[in-house]
Amino acid sequence: MTFYQDKNVLLAVTGGVAAYKAAELTRLLIKAKANVKVVMTDAAQEFIPAKTLAVLSTHPVLTDASWQGAGSEVDHVRLAKWADLIVLAPLTANTLAKLALGLADNALTATIMASTARKIAVPAMNDAMWSNPAVQRNVDQLKKDDFDFIGPTSGFLAEGYEAKGRMVEPAEIVTAITDLAWDGFQDAIFEEKPLVGKKIVVTAGGTREPIDPVRYLTNKSSGKMGYALAEAARAAGATVTLVAATSRPVNPAIRVNLVGDTREMLAAVQKEMAVADVYIGAAAVSDFRVAEVSEHKVKKRGDEHMILDLVQNPDILKTVGEAKKPGQVVVGFAAETENLIENAQAKLVKKHADLIVANNVLEAGAGFNKDTNKVTLVTADQDPIRVAAKLKTEVAEDIIALVADLLTS
Ligand code: CTP
Repeated sequence: MTFYQDKNVLLAVTGGVAAYKAAELTRLLIKAKANVKVVMTDAAQEFIPAKTLAVLSTHPVLTDASWQGAGSEVDHVRLAKWADLIVLAPLTANTLAKLALGLADNALTATIMASTARKIAVPAMNDAMWSNPAVQRNVDQLKKDDFDFIGPTSGFLAEGYEAKGRMVEPAEIVTAITDLAWDGFQDAIFEEKPLVGKKIVVTAGGTREPIDPVRYLTNKSSGKMGYALAEAARAAGATVTLVAATSRPVNPAIRVNLVGDTREMLAAVQKEMAVADVYIGAAAVSDFRVAEVSEHKVKKRGDEHMILDLVQNPDILKTVGEAKKPGQVVVGFAAETENLIENAQAKLVKKHADLIVANNVLEAGAGFNKDTNKVTLVTADQDPIRVAAKLKTEVAEDIIALVADLLTS
């Protein structure tokens, strides 16, 4: 199901040249499965006829003429109640000022004033107007009043030069709204503590495959992502067991089971999963181990080459996924360098997971041994959720929020 499915989106169009892009925005929102209705100012109709938006949205457009013509003051109240989300695009400096003051002198501002729906402002104006202190004051006021802002961006303005003031492109507005709504959903999850009574097993760190009594094969994993996930799951109310190959400071409410190699990690995880609701495989598991671990320290033999015979390790995620009981949720990671979504979707199927947290390890702000990560959350039923680069602790909260959602769906 997409984010927009069955959502009532009211598009509020004001009078800037970017108003012509409201047609494309309407089309894209409908394509994303939203129900779209439009309210527009008289000035907006000088740039795009109401009829175009009525045809595209398949609903009559509320304008000052139809508002007064219907002789009914309740038009704007009815529309305000209908909306789950109001997108003001483009939003001019003039309407922005009216909203900051609380004016309701036309159908559009009266509708906004009557609505408790989430409001997203997408401004478009000349760069000098945008940087005017009065406009910035009004922007600050609207932010305080819980309006979210998308843009404006820098680009080629109608005035014929490059500057900040351009309306964000319709396709980007559609995705930016999903990201904003996702953040809001995530905040609510941590207030509600939806994982109370749930048992969660998280793996962390890089497994160590012994070569001899003093040496091992491992990788660059710091364990930060796994530890952050354990903390976030605990914050959401869960009972958490961390099966970790790397030791880090952690909240004492989290039970830590320190392990060494992959087979040891698998055994510990399988034991925990007998009673757990969720598995999150954040560990960087060695795909191979040394075929025969030497009982004694391997000595130099005078030759320049040394060959280690490696055999494949069990796949912990796949083993847990295949043994999944009804109601259990299994989460894996996918470290990729190309075709991120396709590879993540393939891993989702192959390992019987419900969610794959995919990251491109070559990208800035993502990957091993860093404090930040940039991931895409891939599930079977929803569109992939792109999470902007942020602290691993914040990414962990996003993942736990989605896990809570998956547990109830
Ligand atoms: N994983 C696992 N056991 C393994 C290897 C990987 O549990 N022996 C888990 C990791 O913890 C991670 C997911 O599988 O959650 C994906 O790991 P990744 O290294 O991206 O994928 P691989 O399965 O190793 O596939 P490939 O290296 O071919 O991309």
